Amino acid sequence: MTGIFLSFEGGEGLGKSLQASKLAEDLRARGRDVLLTREPGGTPAGERIRDVLLHVRDVALSPEAQALLYSAARAQLVRDVIRPALAVGHLVIADRFFDSLLAYQGYGHGADLEGLRAMTRFAVGDLMPQRTFLIDAPVDVVLARLAARQGQWDRFHDVDPAFYERVREGYLRLAAAEPRRFVIVNGDRSEDQIAADIRRQVEQLLGAPA
Ligand code: TMP
Repeated sequence: MTGIFLSFEGGEGLGKSLQASKLAEDLRARGRDVLLTREPGGTPAGERIRDVLLHVRDVALSPEAQALLYSAARAQLVRDVIRPALAVGHLVIADRFFDSLLAYQGYGHGADLEGLRAMTRFAVGDLMPQRTFLIDAPVDVVLARLAARQGQWDRFHDVDPAFYERVREGYLRLAAAEPRRFVIVNGDRSEDQIAADIRRQVEQLLGAPA
């Protein structure tokens, strides 16, 4: 692997996807070849799987079944898109990667963490982001932001806040276990402050102004 692989993680409503695409734009403007992926999705198979997963309210799916579907989409994305891009030296930014599986299906829904880790090894092999930006904020901040955004609130209003607490706690545990890979970014700030913080970290990693 010759390219650089970064991932973005965290709960909904904190601008994770916006930050990932902002960073991709910044780096492209500086002449880098950047690939931005999102999960689940990013391949024809992944988009179909996404469709099933995001209608989980109408289609009953156990946490284990969800995990297998997310992992299937991820396996395809890694094989068809991420590994080939890294092999030619591109910088890959993943809007979610396997930490989402551990945080949501594992810590959030209670699926067995060791099983999820084994599933991930099967799906993606040893591929690991060099840096993972965890956009983090207290759950009441997240819920207040979602409430302020009509469309998003529809999607999340019936989810138990305790679920988001478990997901957040899970992410923080993952970050504590791998402090060299994870960068915890305070998400309770303006978009520009968050972006500047991330840019600084990426510049350090790249060893030159990003
Ligand atoms: P997003 O568009 O805000 O990133 O949302 C994707 C949703 O999918 C979000 O609720 C988190 C969820 N998800 C999992 O539960 N497990 C996973 O492995 C991934 C990639 C996403």
